Amino acid sequence: MHQGRTTLSKFLIQQLKGSSEQSDLAALLVDIAAAVKAISAMTAKGELGGVLGSLDSTNVQGETQKKLDVMSDTAFINTFAMGGLVAGLASEENDDIVEIDPGEGAGRFLAVFDPLDGSSNIDVNVSVGSIFSVLRAPEGRKPEVSDFLVIGRQQLAAGYAIYGPSTMFVLTVGKGTHGFTLDREVGNFILTHPHMQVPADTSEFAINASNERFWEPPVQRYVVECKNGKTDVRGRDFNMRWIASMVADIHRILMRGGVFMYPRDTKDPSKAGRLRLMYEANPMSMVIEQAGGLGSTGRERILDIEPGDIHQRVPVVIGSRNEVERIEKYHHEYDSGTDEKYTSPLFQERSLYAN
Ligand code: AHG
Ligand code: MN
Ligand code: MN
Repeated sequence: MHQGRTTLSKFLIQQLKGSSEQSDLAALLVDIAAAVKAISAMTAKGELGGVLGSLDSTNVQGETQKKLDVMSDTAFINTFAMGGLVAGLASEENDDIVEIDPGEGAGRFLAVFDPLDGSSNIDVNVSVGSIFSVLRAPEGRKPEVSDFLVIGRQQLAAGYAIYGPSTMFVLTVGKGTHGFTLDREVGNFILTHPHMQVPADTSEFAINASNERFWEPPVQRYVVECKNGKTDVRGRDFNMRWIASMVADIHRILMRGGVFMYPRDTKDPSKAGRLRLMYEANPMSMVIEQAGGLGSTGRERILDIEPGDIHQRVPVVIGSRNEVERIEKYHHEYDSGTDEKYTSPLFQERSLYAN
C-alpha cells in the first residue's frame, strides 16, 4: 500500500486555496474527474458495452461521429449541468456554444473540451483520451461566443485524461503539471506523477509522415535531419512514434520527451492545420509549458494566439523546448530568406519588389 496517498480532492484543496474562485475551480476539476471516470468505464467495456462503431451523424468539422464521441460529450455536458459551476461550454461535437441553465446561481466558468480524442483508435483498442480547458465566465450575463475567444494564456486550468492500460488524469492550474492514476477498485484518482517535467533534450519525434509531401519546407528540413541522424547536423539518431491520438502522443512526450507536430500542410489549403486551437492546442500547450516544454505553431506561441472561432484550426508543434525552438528557427529562416536550401516564395516576392 502507498503511504500518505494524495487523492485528487486533497491535492486540489491544497493547491487552490484563498479565494472563492479558487475553491470553485477545485470543485469543477473534481466534477471533470467524475466525467472522466464515467468515460473510462465506458471505453473499458469495449465491444461488450456495445459502444464501438460509428453513428450516421457528422460533427461541425464534417467528421463522422463515433458512438463514444457523442456518449463522452453527453457525459461532460450532464456533469456540468448538474454541477452548477459552468455557465456555458464549447466542444468538438457541438457546432455552437451550449449555455447551461443557471438555475439557482450562474456558474462562474466556461468549459471547452474534446470529449474523446483519437476516436479513430477506439475500434482497434488503442489509447484514446479527453482534453479540457477552463475559462472565466462573464459576470451577470449569459455567455456569448466572444467570451470563449480569449488567448490561451488566460486559461484557468487545462488538462487531459488518457484511457490506456491505466486511466490517468493530468492537469495544471498554472502551478506545474501533475498526473493522477485512477485506482479503479476505489474510484479515486491518486497523485502518482507530481511536478511532471518534459526532458529538454530528446531524440524522438511524432508526425504523420504520410503527409510529408504537403508539409512546408521548414518542417521537411527538420524531419529530414532527424531521419539522417548521425550522418547529418544532428549528430545522433532519432526515433519516431505516431499513435494518432494527440493525448497519447503528448502523454508520452510529457513522460520521456520528444516533439509532436501536426503542421500546416497543403493537403487542404482551406485548413490552417488539423488540430483545433480551443480544445486541443491551447490546453495541451498549457500542460506542456507548465512542465517546462513549449507549444508553437512554428511561427508563434500557441498560448498567444487571438482566437477567431471556437473550432479554429492551427498548426501545432509541441514538446521539448530545445526541439520546438529549433523548428521555430527553421520557420524564421525560411520566412526571412536566410535559409540556404529553402526560401519562402513570400520572401522571393518581397525581395523582387525591393530591387
Ligand atoms: P479527434 O479524434 O478528436 O478528431 O482528434 C484526432 C486528432 C489527434 O488526436 C491526432 O493526433 C490526429 O487527429 C491524427 O490525425 P491523422 O489521422 O492525420 O494521423
Ligand atoms: Mn482530438
Ligand atoms: Mn474528439
